[in-house]
Amino acid sequence: MITNDMITEALKKVAYPGFTKSIVDFGFVKDIKVEGERVKVSVEITSSAPEVEKQIRDDIKEAFESIGIKEYEIDLKKPKMPRESSSKGKNIAPHIKNFVMVSSGKGGVGKSTTTVNLAISLAKQGKKVGLLDADIYGPNIPRMMGIVGETPEIIGNKVKPILAHGVEVMSMGSLMEEGQSLIWRGAMIMKAIQQLLQDILWGDLDVLVIDMPPGTGDAQLTLAQSVPVTAGVCVTTPQKVALDDTARSLDMFKKLNIPIAGIVENMSGFICPETDKEYDIFGKGTTEPLAKEFDTVVLGEIPIEPAIREGGDAGKPISSEFPDTITAKKYFEAAKKLWEMIEKINEEGGVDNEAIQPTIGIPGTATAGKSACSV
Ligand SMILES: Nc1ncnc2c1ncn2[C@@H]1O[C@H](COP(=O)(O)OP(=O)(O)OP(=O)(O)O)[C@@H](O)[C@H]1O
Ligand SMILES: [Mg+2]
Repeated sequence: MITNDMITEALKKVAYPGFTKSIVDFGFVKDIKVEGERVKVSVEITSSAPEVEKQIRDDIKEAFESIGIKEYEIDLKKPKMPRESSSKGKNIAPHIKNFVMVSSGKGGVGKSTTTVNLAISLAKQGKKVGLLDADIYGPNIPRMMGIVGETPEIIGNKVKPILAHGVEVMSMGSLMEEGQSLIWRGAMIMKAIQQLLQDILWGDLDVLVIDMPPGTGDAQLTLAQSVPVTAGVCVTTPQKVALDDTARSLDMFKKLNIPIAGIVENMSGFICPETDKEYDIFGKGTTEPLAKEFDTVVLGEIPIEPAIREGGDAGKPISSEFPDTITAKKYFEAAKKLWEMIEKINEEGGVDNEAIQPTIGIPGTATAGKSACSV
């Protein structure tokens, strides 16, 4: 006898295209009806791309046939039409004009460091900037911005961001006891990210720069569904193995319909302070071809610089404390390029996230349909 549970189990094998999480786990399966040998499933997806629909239909068919179900109907609902304007997309923090998601395929490549220095550099260029630490598993922003132990002010049922180095900052690390850790599960991550956008008294910001956890998962998806992410910035180190992960991260931006502002090549060469001789420890300049492949630019090449690490540990970011150094100037230039990209993206109509539309299998994208974001 066929049961609803059997069907649910079978559908759990159907991954949403581009992700490892299933259509059941994403909550896209709305209804299952079993009448004798006949099964009807209703599925609502967020993409209007025909390739996504086809793949889901094929995968459901395969999942059903593998458990011997022959008579079935798949009622698959898609969003009507993709819209073009960012103003029409869902935005749970409407007074913030632009959102920049800083991501990487790999951990430890310097996302948080890059986010901090880009945010400070944008503020130095006269923008009103917020910095959201969306790395709720391992929030490093309080330390890097020098606000460990500072408790944010609470006004009514909202929390005021902490002002540091000219930037409004909020992090889960500032809301939890130091050293406390939580085991985050999917739904909690979504709620936490939404609250960090909605229940924080962000000012009328020109831009909120968002430090993401490594990889491609619930946090990235939640963010993309909650606000129209203006642009994605990908941070990588120059080694080949890092670049493979970076391609996955860029592919995720594409699948989430987030315009890519560019790539920051971090730990790009090392200049020996004693001899001024340059050493390519992890390599240098390897990111350019990848940027081309994804039709984007390299925003900056930031060298390995002891002052960056020291500044990160001491809450004294190089862009704020040593603005005249070559590296701080590189961050400044990268931020300038980033802002130009933001303006360009907005001129071209921005992004619509009302329905996150993965663009699977677009011809011409090198990784189209190849990689899977692990959710
Ligand atoms: N260009 C650089 N030169 C020297 N040290 C750097 C540089 N970039 C980052 N670091 C140091 O490397 C370490 C990792 O950087 P960071 O925490 O920014 O990486 P991340 O990608 O955010 O890591 P995670 O994936 O854990 O969030 C930090 O100690 C940081 O100070
Ligand atoms: Mg980090």
